[in-house]
Amino acid sequence: MIDAARFEALSVSDRDLAPEECAALARSAAELIDTAALDREGEGSFELLWRTDHSEAWLNTWWDPRDTGFHDHGGSCVGVHVLEGHVRNEPLVVGGPRRITEYRAGESFSFPGTGIHRMEHEPGAVTIHVYSPPIRAIGHYELVGGELRRHSGPPSEASPPSPTLSAVLADEP
Ligand SMILES: [Fe+2]
Repeated sequence: MIDAARFEALSVSDRDLAPEECAALARSAAELIDTAALDREGEGSFELLWRTDHSEAWLNTWWDPRDTGFHDHGGSCVGVHVLEGHVRNEPLVVGGPRRITEYRAGESFSFPGTGIHRMEHEPGAVTIHVYSPPIRAIGHYELVGGELRRHSGPPSEASPPSPTLSAVLADEP
C-alpha cells in the first residue's frame, strides 16, 4: 500500500522545514494514500512513511478514540493533515480559557517546535503528521502534586494521556 519511492521523492529537502511547509508536505503525502486500502481492524496504528535528515512522516489511523496527552516534540515542528474523520488540537494555555480547535477531513494545521500540545483523535480519524527535523525525543507532561513535570520518551512510543493536567485546565473559568 505504501509506495516508498513516491514518498521519498516528496520528502527531498536540503534543509529543515517551517511548520507551514510540514503541513503542505502532509497534504501532498495524503494524495498518495489509498484510504480504501487501509486495514481497519484493531485499535489503530501509526506507520512511518519516511524519515530523512530533515523530516519524518507518519500515517496515523485511530479506530478507537486516542488522546495524546500534553507533549512536546523535542524541538521539532509538525504539520498535520486530516484525511478522514476529525481531530482536535489544543495548545497548553496557562491562565486563560482552553483553545481547542477541531479539524475535519481535508483540513490541515501546523504547530511550532517550541510548543506543547495535545491532540484528540476521534474514532475513525486518519491523519498524516510531518515533523521537521525528525523527532529526537518526545516530552510528556503531567501534574504531580500540582507541579508540572516533563518526562522524556522515545519518538516511537505513543504519548500517554495527561488526565490530571487536562482536568485542571477544564476547571479554569
Ligand atoms: Fe504532537
